[in-house]
Amino acid sequence: MSMSEVPVANAAELAAYLEFLSTAGVDCALEDAPADRFAQTRSLMEKQVQTRSAPQQNIAPASSFSAPEPTPPKSESLSVSPAEMARNLREKGVSPDARQEARKILERQRTAREAAVTTSASITATDKNAVIPNAETVGSARRAAGSAQSLDELRRILAGFEGCNLRLTAKNLVFGDGSSKARIMFVGEAPGREEDIQGVPFVGHSGHLLDRMLKAAGLDRSMVYIANVVPWRPPGNRTPTPHETEICRPFILRQIELVDPEIVVFLGAASAKTLSGARDGIRKLRGKWLSYGLEGTQRKAIATYHPAYLLRSPAEKRFAWRDMLHIRAELETNE
Ligand code: URA
Repeated sequence: MSMSEVPVANAAELAAYLEFLSTAGVDCALEDAPADRFAQTRSLMEKQVQTRSAPQQNIAPASSFSAPEPTPPKSESLSVSPAEMARNLREKGVSPDARQEARKILERQRTAREAAVTTSASITATDKNAVIPNAETVGSARRAAGSAQSLDELRRILAGFEGCNLRLTAKNLVFGDGSSKARIMFVGEAPGREEDIQGVPFVGHSGHLLDRMLKAAGLDRSMVYIANVVPWRPPGNRTPTPHETEICRPFILRQIELVDPEIVVFLGAASAKTLSGARDGIRKLRGKWLSYGLEGTQRKAIATYHPAYLLRSPAEKRFAWRDMLHIRAELETNE
């Protein structure tokens, strides 16, 4: 879509329009013209075949093969530049103040996008699909998390931590909810749209189901503590990348230490695998007591199905129900 087709008449409409796109998961600018990736792959393969059948001195060692850099778009800039947008709004008779405001919005988005690109460029990558956490960023996350002596301090540190790109696209930090003295702590994967808006974990559809699951175990939010492995919403609710998870891991580990619950409940495979190091799938993992070590202190942990999965597969709710009873019985044993 070119700027003249953008359906806005003023800055407020533009802000609403950009908000709509971002909520719909449109978080990067693409070229106007479609690209035939199949044709590009075909041509790459043809080049490879030619290289292999070329005289010996021209054959590249296998290890030096790498996919070609994607062809840069004709223009490196967004398809809508601030100047273009300003001109367009001027033509539509939008006031200078409103134009200035719209320009600021676009600049902010551009800065956020560029920061995301810059940070991800500093990540060491051996392969286009494999991202290796930058040891320096993970180290700084560990040091920052380790320095927090209370949940409030951890929240403050996390709010100022700039090592995770997800903060650039999220509206709010989604830190935690419930009682800091809870005997039981639930850990999900990452916030969704509603959580991002409210800055509170599990308040959307999954959260409502979690509330009902808690009730099944005779619990409610005020008796438990709830958090996520990743405290910022990934754009469009995509799965957090291994790099994002690795960067955020020290913070959730410290959060668990500070809450110091008797039982940690991993909601879904992502949480269970990230925090316990387990490799099995959730079907195999769920419902079993896991011994979960933190700085020499062992605490009980158990994995159960993520409420979002249960919403898609209601027949599995009976297993989650069983897990909750199991947890309840364990709490009662130790009362
Ligand atoms: N899913 C999660 O894993 N966490 C939330 O907070 C909401 C949905």
